[in-house]
Amino acid sequence: LDETEYLVTTLRLRNGGCSLVLAIDDSRVSILHWGADFTGGIPDVGDLAPARAISSHDVVVQCELLPSASAGWTGTPGLQGHRSGRDFSPRLRVTDVDESADATAVTIVCTDDDAGIAVTSRLELGVHGLLRMRHDLANTGQTPYQLDSLALSLPVPPRATELLDLTGRWARERQPQRTPFNFGRWARGERRGRTGHDSSVLFAAGTPGFASRTGEVWAVHLGWSSNHELAAERVPDGRALLSGAELFAPGELVLEPGSAYATPWLYAAYSADGLDGITAAFHGWLRARPEHPRTPRPVGINTWEAVYFDQDLETLAELAVAAAAVGVERFVVDDGWFLGRRTDQAGLGDWTVDPDVWPNGLTPLIDSVHELGMEFGLWVEPEMINTVSNAARAHPEWIAGPGPHDPILWRHQHVLDLTDDAAWRHVYSALDALLSKNAIDYLKWDHNRDLADMGHRGRGSAHSQMLAVYRLIDELRRAHPGVEIESCSSGGARVDLGILERTDRVWASDTNDALERQTIQRWTEVVLPPEIVGAHIGPPTSHTTGRTHSLWFRGITALFAHLGIEWDIRNLPESETRELSTLVSLYKEHRSMLHTGTLVRADLADPTRSLYGVVSPDGSEALLAYVALATSAAETPGFVRIPGLVAERDYSVTVISGEEADVYLEAAAPPWVSSGIAASGAFLGTVGLPFPILNPEKAILIRLVS
Ligand code: DGJ
Repeated sequence: LDETEYLVTTLRLRNGGCSLVLAIDDSRVSILHWGADFTGGIPDVGDLAPARAISSHDVVVQCELLPSASAGWTGTPGLQGHRSGRDFSPRLRVTDVDESADATAVTIVCTDDDAGIAVTSRLELGVHGLLRMRHDLANTGQTPYQLDSLALSLPVPPRATELLDLTGRWARERQPQRTPFNFGRWARGERRGRTGHDSSVLFAAGTPGFASRTGEVWAVHLGWSSNHELAAERVPDGRALLSGAELFAPGELVLEPGSAYATPWLYAAYSADGLDGITAAFHGWLRARPEHPRTPRPVGINTWEAVYFDQDLETLAELAVAAAAVGVERFVVDDGWFLGRRTDQAGLGDWTVDPDVWPNGLTPLIDSVHELGMEFGLWVEPEMINTVSNAARAHPEWIAGPGPHDPILWRHQHVLDLTDDAAWRHVYSALDALLSKNAIDYLKWDHNRDLADMGHRGRGSAHSQMLAVYRLIDELRRAHPGVEIESCSSGGARVDLGILERTDRVWASDTNDALERQTIQRWTEVVLPPEIVGAHIGPPTSHTTGRTHSLWFRGITALFAHLGIEWDIRNLPESETRELSTLVSLYKEHRSMLHTGTLVRADLADPTRSLYGVVSPDGSEALLAYVALATSAAETPGFVRIPGLVAERDYSVTVISGEEADVYLEAAAPPWVSSGIAASGAFLGTVGLPFPILNPEKAILIRLVS
């Protein structure tokens, strides 16, 4: 092999304004470009070899599809594995390339016969330029192969100098943090056996100061609901990449001869126009899936913050009547309905209706909910077990643990070892029976603890546990195709595109505090479209923070998601019932636009203000929220530009406002706030409008129609 002339073929995938250019020869696959599409051809790749550093290998290489030490990559290897210490440094050779006729997808097979491995890589550049890729590693050797890591990585150019990722905690998920993209490695690892409250649903690199509507951005998401790591790595020779990989416990993944491991999908998007472009790529791709929910997203009510464990037929039937009266369409009975479940200390594992609380079963409630014209939903937490349960008493071996020491408790519960066939069948049969015997339309599938220290008979088992959970949901869905499922995990600790392959909605957070929700939903919706992000109007004083907010502020906050109510609304004053009905009607009136349109967010100079909303796909209408998150340093906001409108259209702009505090607004506000105004999209996007002063933790809705 002549190392200076190795780049022989280019292969280019194009779709949705993006291009991915690969350079392929029989010795390796390199990624020449991932980003904006361009017209014209690609010069001779032999002339595009990067400069070779003075003190370096005699080989020049681009960023490989699977970066390897054998090709001179000095960063973290894409594939790490061995056979008792041997075959640790693979040198894969390309043996097959199969490109789709429309040049949007390719499958590449690389093998290393000496190391006894074969890697099949699949890359698909989908609509809206969303790229997804995965590797499949087969052990073609004669002995077991221990896989330590198989990463999916994509290069970013040197001008991507800033990183953005998300962190968080219970009731405060998906908070952004920024770091410079320095030399070295910035990694966000999750070893919780679930996606994690602090997991980064988006991991992005961009040009300096990239924001919602400006800057170039390259971003990735890993579609996996268990241990994983997202990383950015820059090495001194100029190469930099973003990567995602599943994380394994030591020795967890051993491939017997002839067996294989498939990575999760890595999803990746590029935008020349800031984060809103990344959002458009993810939303567009998700909405194009056949399984994406397309029916109007029903207004729900959830019993948790309404009654907690104090369930009985009379109370919940009354709540159902009150809910139907304000326009609710789905009634969800949360935790507390099953055997022995009077507190959070018992019952998990015993998925039968508790006769002490429900002497006639759930049917009387389900019937009255259906008679009121609502769907019926039920909470379950199938992956867990309380020691105080019939299941644990009969089968203590179903409690997952690392062995020989016992696992530690979390919310008084253990993990049910779903890699144990009998345990898996127990849960499957119980849920299947529940869904067969009761007219249930919806499951809220919860998961309330980390799976740190997760093991099966002395070996790490988070990987096989996750596959068993996916299979459990998949098989239940096959058996009960009409049932929708929500992914919940102590709030928003399981929000990822792996679980969303088999669920219809995520519960974004356990906090219903509207102020907290502004940030949580903004950053959940950076990847997930509003129609699959659950948001509830909670009680006036938040149960998680003690803050009190007006109903209007709580309502506007929930409007830009899949709206529900989580509040005991049985004895509300007349005025509150009326306002709640108004908010529910507002949601119903606009949901088809809110759930199909383009999410836009303004880049405001004032960090205490936020302006965001949805513009219909043809730009003919829009609904935006203008929110005061805190008091401002400025006395007035001045002119604020409205993003995302069609320049050539003329809009009529009105304010929808719903609470008494807005009277103050009317007195001091610019005239258009009460009279409305007509202006072109070009004017509104370039000059903007003088905006009103808002008290903190208040919001107005701005409606634009052309
Ligand atoms: C955690 C969830 O996030 C809550 O909404 C509620 O369902 C509780 N679990 C019930 O235990």
